[in-house]
Amino acid sequence: VIYLDHNATTQLWPEVRAQMASADEVFGNPSSLHAAGRAARELVEQARREVAQLVGALPEEVVFTSSGTEADQLAIPRAGHVVVSAIEHPAVMGARGDATVVDVAPEGFVDPEAFERALRSDTVLASIQLANHETGTLQPIAQLAKIARERGVAFHTDAVQAAGKIPIDMRSLGVDSLSLSAHKIGGPKGIGALLVRRGAKFEPLLRGHQERERRGGTENVAGIVGFGAAAALARKNLAAWSAHTAALRDRFEQGALALSARRHGAMAPRVPNTSNVAWEGISGELLTINLDLEGVCVSTGAACTSGSLKPSPVLLALGLPKARALEAVRVSVGPENTAEEIDRVLELLPELIARIRRAG
Ligand SMILES: Cc1ncc(COP(=O)(O)O)c(C=O)c1O
Repeated sequence: VIYLDHNATTQLWPEVRAQMASADEVFGNPSSLHAAGRAARELVEQARREVAQLVGALPEEVVFTSSGTEADQLAIPRAGHVVVSAIEHPAVMGARGDATVVDVAPEGFVDPEAFERALRSDTVLASIQLANHETGTLQPIAQLAKIARERGVAFHTDAVQAAGKIPIDMRSLGVDSLSLSAHKIGGPKGIGALLVRRGAKFEPLLRGHQERERRGGTENVAGIVGFGAAAALARKNLAAWSAHTAALRDRFEQGALALSARRHGAMAPRVPNTSNVAWEGISGELLTINLDLEGVCVSTGAACTSGSLKPSPVLLALGLPKARALEAVRVSVGPENTAEEIDRVLELLPELIARIRRAG
């Protein structure tokens, strides 16, 4: 199998798996005072330091959650006016049905002036993603967060698709909170974190004494350990992995362009691993299915919406007509992919495209 769907999820790194297996033997409750509890607590705190370091935060600013989705929804207040962008992940979009949605330019980024116009005197929070899940486009977060700060509005960024791909420093971004998810960086599913700047206002979703009363529930110790291990690997290998994935992404795009592909969101700054391409008249879903039959895993868009024939809301927000948006295929590479795998896909594509054209 050639796995090119790292924005949907990633495999566990062997090192992560090994650390999780040994953490599973530490059965104590991290809240217990005795030795068994203290051993579990130590594992949780070590992982907390690793996750904090990945984004230049303090350990006490990390609130472990059950997922990136929970982190996003924890960040967004239940009351008061909120502002989001038109290309947020459903985890943010679903949090508040009454949010003001800021349009994005056709290149895929939020215009700071449009953002400022959307802020109202009763706005309590703005939530704008760092990197987009479908196109990889990066938003000017430091600039947007500064505008929000000057207006007294709290700022959250969903950094789930940026972590491990670009350097992230919570301080220089100037955000109040930031979401992460372990399974996008070689860690386990079902564990995420919201980083909350010290002193930032905060309203828990689940009440309990854990996580400094910010997220109740006995900690998922093995999941947290896996997250910490993946964060440490991501930080250590960031430069090498981003250079490697950028080279593979560019190799793929050059080959795809030579086959008359169109690219979406490629004109703005973006993460190194993500490519969103389309062929005129070719259904993205059919191409994805045909690639799957050849053992190649790609996606038509966000995993949560694939399988449905609805065009991607992200691509519609970029101004693509419905028919064009339905042609999109997302290729998201990871550190373990090779140039040979990309070449194999490029070799398969002309035949698959021709087959779909003949059938259509
Ligand atoms: C940008 C973004 N935010 C949030 C999430 C949700 O993370 P999780 O799968 O951990 O709930 C995803 C996952 O697809 C994502 O891509």
